[in-house]
Amino acid sequence: MLIEIAEKSGFCFGVERAIRLTEEAAEKYGELYTLGPLIHNKKVTDSLENKGIKIAEEISDAAGKPLVIRSHGVTEDIEEAAQAACSVCIDATCPFVKKIHNIVSEQPEDSAVIILGDKDHPEVIGIKGHAHCKAFVCADMAEINALFESGALSRDEDVALVIQTTFDRGRFLEYSQDIRENYDRVKIYDTICNATSERQKNAEELAERAALMIVVGGKSSSNTGKLAEICARHCTTVFVEDAGQLSKQLLKGLHSDSIIGITAGASTPAYTIKEVHDKMNEEIKTTIENEEDFAALLDQSFRRVYTNNRVKATVVGINKNEAVVDLGIKQTGYIPLDELTNDPNATVGDIVKIGDEIEAIVTKVDDSNGVIFLSKKKVDSALGMEKIAASKEANETLEGVVTAAVKGGVIVITNGTRVFIPASQTGVPRSGKLEDLVKKTVQFKVIEINEQRGRVVGSIRQANKEVRDAEKAKFWESIEVGQKFEGEVRSIEDYGVFVDIGAVDGLVRTSELTWNRVGHPKDIVKEGDKITVIVKSFDPEKKRVSLSAKDPDENPWTKFVADYAVDDVIKATVVSITEFGAFAQIIPGVDGLIHISQISTERVTNIASVLAVGQEVEVKIIDIDTDKSRVSLSIKALMEDAAPAEEAAEDAE
Ligand code: F3S
Repeated sequence: MLIEIAEKSGFCFGVERAIRLTEEAAEKYGELYTLGPLIHNKKVTDSLENKGIKIAEEISDAAGKPLVIRSHGVTEDIEEAAQAACSVCIDATCPFVKKIHNIVSEQPEDSAVIILGDKDHPEVIGIKGHAHCKAFVCADMAEINALFESGALSRDEDVALVIQTTFDRGRFLEYSQDIRENYDRVKIYDTICNATSERQKNAEELAERAALMIVVGGKSSSNTGKLAEICARHCTTVFVEDAGQLSKQLLKGLHSDSIIGITAGASTPAYTIKEVHDKMNEEIKTTIENEEDFAALLDQSFRRVYTNNRVKATVVGINKNEAVVDLGIKQTGYIPLDELTNDPNATVGDIVKIGDEIEAIVTKVDDSNGVIFLSKKKVDSALGMEKIAASKEANETLEGVVTAAVKGGVIVITNGTRVFIPASQTGVPRSGKLEDLVKKTVQFKVIEINEQRGRVVGSIRQANKEVRDAEKAKFWESIEVGQKFEGEVRSIEDYGVFVDIGAVDGLVRTSELTWNRVGHPKDIVKEGDKITVIVKSFDPEKKRVSLSAKDPDENPWTKFVADYAVDDVIKATVVSITEFGAFAQIIPGVDGLIHISQISTERVTNIASVLAVGQEVEVKIIDIDTDKSRVSLSIKALMEDAAPAEEAAEDAE
């Protein structure tokens, strides 16, 4: 393993100068104060304290004593107050920062200044305090644009743009192009300190080759934090304050040819960097002697996380507005409710439970308060988008909950991702209300994905159609003659009724509605009636099914053949008259035909002159055709049977 120290590590010119000036002043004046810690490094400030250099929180703490203004610089007011209150005021403001003070203070009163940087950083506060005109601090391009859009600044006024010395050069170059294209009157002063950008570039080059980067510096040093953030993009990175925080477990997983890189922030003294280097060297030697010792886990105590890191976290608390999570580091993590889910109806408890292990993305690290803000929904959304894309590819149906009715459609949440369903794809008729879908679980197909814009469009209608098509296919595969269905009468025609039996509507002809004679189907059923039907025949090509509502167990023919026989003389009621004869009901559902030739022993030409509908007649069963379920009746046969008896009676007289 090779340990490599980044060439541009440790004290920058400005910090080195400030420490030198302070130490020289301490020697000269004895008791000495610095206005705030001279640099963000406890070891250095402790060592200065041992030399009699104290920290003044306020100017009044150093009244009448010599005072050093640190390299970050201060506002003009504070400079003047210090000069007035202290016996000597040693200005250790870095010359690069001083240059920005001068640029800002020279701007005319009717112009404006924008400082691109962190509004809470002492350097930025100091710079702003040198302006004699309007001055604004912007963290990014969006905030600069907002100044002009809100009217706080006009495109017609002169604006000077200066940059915090430690600002990221890549972002600055990107913004400056935007500014040149959009704001003619903004004059850009490139005030980024090369020491910072060179240190960052140098650290990044090393991190690209290294398997492990150790970033050394004070935890509150923003430039050291930035270095760690850059290195973490390329390899495993740890942020330590000194060699005492190193652990041999760091070497776990490294190979014999791995490079361990060391870089350090602007406030890290060379001796601390050396101690870190020597400690790692020692650990490597021990590792080689006893590799087994390195099975222990990485010491969590000095792990850091950075904005945009994806981390694992355990839910340790839940309240109305947020989930509290443990990241295995010193800081506490918070996930606000609107970063837990896209569902506006959900509560924190709906999404996570105490003890849940989740993944989240760091959205903000607030070192000053020791808290970290995270977003679960960003992880869910990224995973959800992958799942949704895979589902679309596989033509799968997805399920989600409708969370809101919006202009032109509804929003469904699935896999933590918002899906827009246009009104025309919801399956809700024009006369219906989209609001009725809210909070309902729906199935839908994905019809469009725009991963860059994070936009997904779905269709409930398409999913419903697929379900119907599948049901129909299954229906045609399994349908059999004699199969029984519970159906619903959809419509009534003169020739029969259409019955919904699930996948299709089948036809029950009028004659198949009941065993009895039927005038019109409306006499038997009405739309919406539930009836039991049996498949008589079907045609998958034409998608037609013929049904019968007659119950086979109630078949009157069965009853008839059991109770009646040829030559039986019975009473029947004429139910209809035709040209060739009259039909007479023997029992409900079984009519017999009295052929015109069987009505009388005499020739009948007009049946209606002999028989009338509703008339009860005595007839003889002269034939039963069981194959065709037909019965032939005769009145004439009875007359012929009676004739010999009558003749015999006449003879006897
Ligand atoms: Fe000065 Fe640059 Fe250091 S501005 S304090 S030399 S980082």
